[in-house]
Amino acid sequence: MKKRMLSLLFVLVFSFVRADEGMWLLYMLGDQVYNDMVKMGLKLNKEQLYSLNKPSVKDAIVIFGGGCTGEIVSREGLLFTNHHCGYSAIAAASSVDNNYLRDGFYAKTRAEEISAPSLSVQFLVRIEDVTKEVEDALKGLSGAERATKLQSISNEIVKRTTDGSDLEARVAPFFRNNQYLLFVYQRYRDVRLVGTPPESIGKFGGDTDNWEWPRHTGDFAVFRVYMSKDGKATAYAPDNVPYKPKYYLNVSTKGVKENDYAMIFGYPGSTNRYETSLGVKIKTEIENPAIVNLRDVRLKLMFEQMKKSDAVRLQLASSYAAIANYWKFFDGEAQQLLKYDVFGQKRAAEEKFIQWAKGKADYENVFAEYEKAYKAWWPYAKHRIYMNEGILGSPLATYAASWQALENALTRETPSTDEIARVTESLKRTRTMFLQNENKASDEQILAATCRMYYHDIESAQHPAEFYTRLRTGYGDLSDEATYKKFAAEVFSKTMVFDDARWDAFMAKPDVAALRADPAYAYVSAFVKNFNTRFTPTFTEFTHRNNDLSRLYLKGVREMNPGKTMYPDANFTMRLSYGSVKPYRPRDAVSYDYVCTMKGVLEKYKPGDYEFDLPKELLEAARKNDFGTYKDARTNDLVVNFITTNDITGGNSGSPVLNGNGELIGLAFDGNYEALSHKIAFDKDFNRTICVDIRYVLWCIDKLGGAKHIVDELTLK
Ligand code: ARG
Repeated sequence: MKKRMLSLLFVLVFSFVRADEGMWLLYMLGDQVYNDMVKMGLKLNKEQLYSLNKPSVKDAIVIFGGGCTGEIVSREGLLFTNHHCGYSAIAAASSVDNNYLRDGFYAKTRAEEISAPSLSVQFLVRIEDVTKEVEDALKGLSGAERATKLQSISNEIVKRTTDGSDLEARVAPFFRNNQYLLFVYQRYRDVRLVGTPPESIGKFGGDTDNWEWPRHTGDFAVFRVYMSKDGKATAYAPDNVPYKPKYYLNVSTKGVKENDYAMIFGYPGSTNRYETSLGVKIKTEIENPAIVNLRDVRLKLMFEQMKKSDAVRLQLASSYAAIANYWKFFDGEAQQLLKYDVFGQKRAAEEKFIQWAKGKADYENVFAEYEKAYKAWWPYAKHRIYMNEGILGSPLATYAASWQALENALTRETPSTDEIARVTESLKRTRTMFLQNENKASDEQILAATCRMYYHDIESAQHPAEFYTRLRTGYGDLSDEATYKKFAAEVFSKTMVFDDARWDAFMAKPDVAALRADPAYAYVSAFVKNFNTRFTPTFTEFTHRNNDLSRLYLKGVREMNPGKTMYPDANFTMRLSYGSVKPYRPRDAVSYDYVCTMKGVLEKYKPGDYEFDLPKELLEAARKNDFGTYKDARTNDLVVNFITTNDITGGNSGSPVLNGNGELIGLAFDGNYEALSHKIAFDKDFNRTICVDIRYVLWCIDKLGGAKHIVDELTLK
């Protein structure tokens, strides 16, 4: 144990170049890292991976829908990603009668492909280092001033870069704001659903198997990117044509074996590998347990309604899945952080830093200052979670909170009719969306439950006191659940949101007294105003302080380890991770294979179950061993999922897993439970990426979906 901890500590803090750990920026891929990749099995040169002049692998990789990764796999703009990345688009395309989420869907012709208006994809056009310009602008600034200036200089750079073009850009900070890069993207908005397996394949195992290995999920979906006839990235139009890619991935059906090289391109969202011990402590003691507690209740209340009808299930499926996904993540993350004593590891690393920093004016107070900052914020940390995940966990409360903009507009010294018109227009639009997604039955229960949990779990000195006094006098004893239910019922029956006539009349002539009298608005604004006036300033101060200190800390760590190649934390910019296919031992006496097969799918099968049911086509084909050319020779079975040592995180979902020749062997879709602490500490023994084998994807499309034409569009190796 001791040895493992010690080596882990070195990896984390001094970040030697070594296999597996690291989400590398292709833009700055050093020789050391590249040579290591070659040693492990990479056959491509750097230019084939990433080039600004020639087509390279990077040109096939996109940001999919704003939170996932996708990859182009044919010369006609065909795209693969995960089922869970296409989930909300699939649900939106479905109806109770044409339930693609439940039954799956494959377009037989291009004309049958279904437009997904909520989706877009972004191609990376170029990257530029703007550190000097940004740092010049920030010279001598700290805290709030620095944050404001950073925002404005970033906006300026973005504007200058995109003006007069249809490009988009973003300035992203690296190494905790010690370096700044500009990313330029081209966004395509005409994305269409080409195919999806039924949910019983695409989400097989549900939340029980989520974040777990062994796994048996067909987590893939197929889309196509379209462009205008003259090659422009335009919105949906019936006569748009398939996107002509600069580069697309070939597919290898040779399968994987232990120690095979694997590399993953994609968009990891966030990691915090230089989190301090204090940050770990606030997560494990306060934040994660609070999030889990609140989500637990919300999920149960949603599920109760989802069980009752297909329509409600379709309506809530996507939001339920998103809440459940990180409910399990935050629970597991806290557990693993404690199990591996990440706090202790961080503490030890910080001790070293403190020793090194002695007598260095820039650095010697970093940790004393961190202590002060955390101490000031600690008493309110739980309250912030109870706002975001509790009070605002009610969709009605969140929507009503957005009316604050209207109250602001109406109460200005000299109200502007323009502003009022703008705000009301926007609220009308968002109301339509709100109503589409709103399930009153579950939301009413959520509002009651979260209002009650807040009352009991948040220190009373921090409460919006007047609100709870009114609740007590108007509705009954605050220790009685019925009080909250009665109140919630009244909010839902009396708010104007659900009453078109009252809503239209109000919006035609908005007036502040009527706004404040609306029970939904009165409810949520009591909490939001209480928090914003009393605690937001402290939180903002804490955040700025933390940013300033983190920047210094990482600058110091780099100075302390001159010449070491380090990788920056994930920030939803394109990264490459490399590793290999490998089994692992999750605990004493247990060892996990690196592949899962159809045999295991059938072992998990539970007829009629919410998570482990299977489509009958699959059962029939599997029982006949009808795997055709997709069968794996070594296991004499169909390989469904496999694992690799790659370092990825949320946002990488849908990412291509490539072999040494740059050919697609699978799609990354999850991480394993034993490494759920990975955002903060990479564990080289336990960290695994869970991938769906491309042969399973093709089998599902071809044999189960009867869509061989999609497979024929690929270039198989
Ligand atoms: N854990 C996966 C991720 O964050 C999502 C898996 C979706 N499946 C599910 N059962 N919720 O990428």
